[in-house]
Parts: sequence; structure tokens; C-alpha cells
Amino acid sequence: MSEEVINAARAILIDNDRGGYTVPTKGLYPFQWNWDSCLSALGFGHFDEARAWAEIQTLFDHQWEDGMVPHIVFHEEDDGYFPGPSVWQTGRPVPTTGITQPAVAGFAVRRLYERAQDKALAEEHARSLLPKVAAWHDWFYRCRDPEGSGLVAIIHPWESGRDNSVDWDAALERVPTVGVMSFERRDILHANPAHRPTNAQYDRYVWLVQHFRSLGWDNSRLHDASPFRVVDPGFNAILIRACDDLGWLADKLGDKDIAERSHAQAARGITALETLWNDEFGQYLCYDRAVGVPVESPSIGGLLPAFAAIPDHRAAALARTIDKLGQKAKYLIPSHDPETAVYDGARYWRGPAWLIVNYMIADGLARAGEEATVERIVNDSLLLIEESGFAEYYDPITGEPCGGGRFTWTAAMVIEFLTRER
Ligand code: GLC
Repeated sequence: MSEEVINAARAILIDNDRGGYTVPTKGLYPFQWNWDSCLSALGFGHFDEARAWAEIQTLFDHQWEDGMVPHIVFHEEDDGYFPGPSVWQTGRPVPTTGITQPAVAGFAVRRLYERAQDKALAEEHARSLLPKVAAWHDWFYRCRDPEGSGLVAIIHPWESGRDNSVDWDAALERVPTVGVMSFERRDILHANPAHRPTNAQYDRYVWLVQHFRSLGWDNSRLHDASPFRVVDPGFNAILIRACDDLGWLADKLGDKDIAERSHAQAARGITALETLWNDEFGQYLCYDRAVGVPVESPSIGGLLPAFAAIPDHRAAALARTIDKLGQKAKYLIPSHDPETAVYDGARYWRGPAWLIVNYMIADGLARAGEEATVERIVNDSLLLIEESGFAEYYDPITGEPCGGGRFTWTAAMVIEFLTRER
């Protein structure tokens, strides 16, 4: 069985390969997305290491001078997606968006390097990527944590990678819509509107883009100028893990400077993350930096810190919270607690299960020795594939496939899970 599934997953990666980069899926997402690429590279790593490295290199070829790595690179024109380059107007030689996405690259580079069969190739790529990934991490702490709290904020929901999470509802409410351009959404031409964000949310997404554009995409100004500034524990945990992994890599490659800086960033991040812990929810919570209040929303963002080197007792508490979610949903891990009124099992990040998040949480919990919870997460992930194919995301109660189909990073995660099982 697993050989067949691995072959099907590989076929999806190859099918979505545009030569040097992959698209998340045909139609719905016709460009290169940042964290999709880094996680998808892990899938390629199992059968074509050169191609895996190329995926990440291509992404970093489009890194900005200030260190930011954009959330989308628009390699080709395609009017099947909104908002395209004419809305972003970032003035890049190859157009990109002007915001970023979860910093999973440092983790992916270490994993590819550690597992490499072709050591010379891995060494070459790791050496060239090391300073670029470090520059991105420095950018984060400089531009998204100007007060030096140890935690970075996102300034647009799309940066989190969890576009329409309940976590952003209150903060997004405060984003105005006056002067927002008139536009036609394209996502709902490719996917069921009931699985997608609402028009009211889209107005605010676009307003923020216009606002940042009016400030010339100057990252030294955007954080303070954004009405939307939220500290996401999941986003920070991914960055902290990446800093840790980059520090490890820098040690191996003998770059003392980057090693020291990365380890220090990770250590500060871990200490600061503790301020987001909430006993009552048994998980971390987002913090709305613009108004200075915690966001009392039990979503997957607060479980993702398992991916970073949090204290063991915190990892154990997260595992117990996930175990409880496992009694409420047939398939772990729902992106929002099914017992809340706002839960919506088919709508993107407001309930559905996503294999990439399952993968990162399972990876962290395995390190913390939470094997039973890890087994359940991995088994549920593979069951979803067996029953519903390689979808973008799944209803965690019915298992219904949602969003786009033949999805690149879903396929990559399946290869990762099945290879782990062996
Ligand atoms: C959606 C997801 C985001 C992902 C992108 C491409 O916007 O929310 O996390 O990177 O699609 O797959």
C-alpha cells in the first residue's frame, strides 16, 4: 500500500513542478509560495536531492535586499489569481508580494542537509543558503519586533499562512475598508466558496495591501503603521525552530557568527514564548499587539509551538490538549476547537485539518517523547489520504476533502510520514 501512495505523491510533485519551483496546485495557486516550497522540498529530497535544493534556492533568489523573503514569487503571468503583481506593485525585477510567510526554510535546510545522500551537493547548497536564511531571520527580529520583545508580529493575516483563522477576527475588524479598490476574487472560481474566506475578509486583506503599497513597501515603517499587528505563537515557534536549526547548521559549517546569533535568537524566543501560555486553554494564545490584549481563541496556532524547543511540561500539556481534540474530531488536528461556536469544519483555517501542521506538531511532539499522540496524528493523516486523496485540507469530523486537489505540500508530507514509518 505505502509504495503505491508514495508513487502517487511523487507524481503530484512532478506534475506541479514548473522547473526550479513548484506551484501548490494547478489553477488555484499558479505561482511559487514561500512555505509551500520549503516543505515541498522535503518531499523531493526523497527521490531527487538536486531538485529539492533548487526549490529553496529559487525562493531565495527572490529575497529582498533588506532580507525579507516574500510570500509569493510571481514567476509567470497568470490572471487566475487575485491579487496579482499589478495590485502589489512591489517594483521587483520578477514581481513578488510585499509580505512574508512562516520561516520554515531554516528547518527544511537542516533536514535536507542531515538526510542527504549526496554530501558534497548538500554542503554546497547549505553553505550558500546559510547567510541568506540568517539575513531573513535578522530581518524578522529587526522589522517585526522593533521593541525587541523576542517575539515577532505579523502585519497581514496571509503572513501567518493561516489566512482566515478565527485568531484574526477581532484584529481584522479594526482594519478599515474605506477606499478599498473594487476587485473580482478568483479563488472562488477554482474552489467551493463555502471552503474559502468571506468577501468581508477579502476587503480587509486588500485594504492592508493598498496601505503598505502607499508606504512604498518600506519595512522599517510597515510594522508600526499597520493597524493589524498580531503575535502568533505558531509563527514564532516556526521561526524559533528555524533559528535553532540554522544555529546547528552554522556550527557544522564553522560559521561562528551566524551560529551565535541564531542560538541567541532562538533562546530569547523560547523565553518570550512563555508569556503567551494560557493554563485555562491548555495552549498558547495569540497576542494582539496593536491593542495589547491576548486573543482567546483555541486554534492550531497555539499548538504549533510543539515544533520549537519548549519545556517538556509545556509539550506534554499540548499533547493532552491534542488528545482531547481527538475525542471531538475523528481526524486530528482540527485547526480550531470543534466545540466552539465559530468552528467551521470546511472553511480553510477555521476548523479543517492540514497535513503540514500535523507534520510539524508531530515532529516536535516526537522529540518530546509524546509517542502515543504522535502515532494518532500520523495515522489520522494517512487515513485522510487513503479516504480522501491529496487535498489541500480536510474536514476533521467527516474527512471530506476541501479546497484545491492534487496538492504539492500535502503530497510531500505524505512521503515524509510514510518514510518515517519504515
Ligand atoms: C493559502 C494558505 C497558505 C498557503 C497558500 C498556498 O493561502 O492559507 O498557507 O501557503 O494557500 O498553498
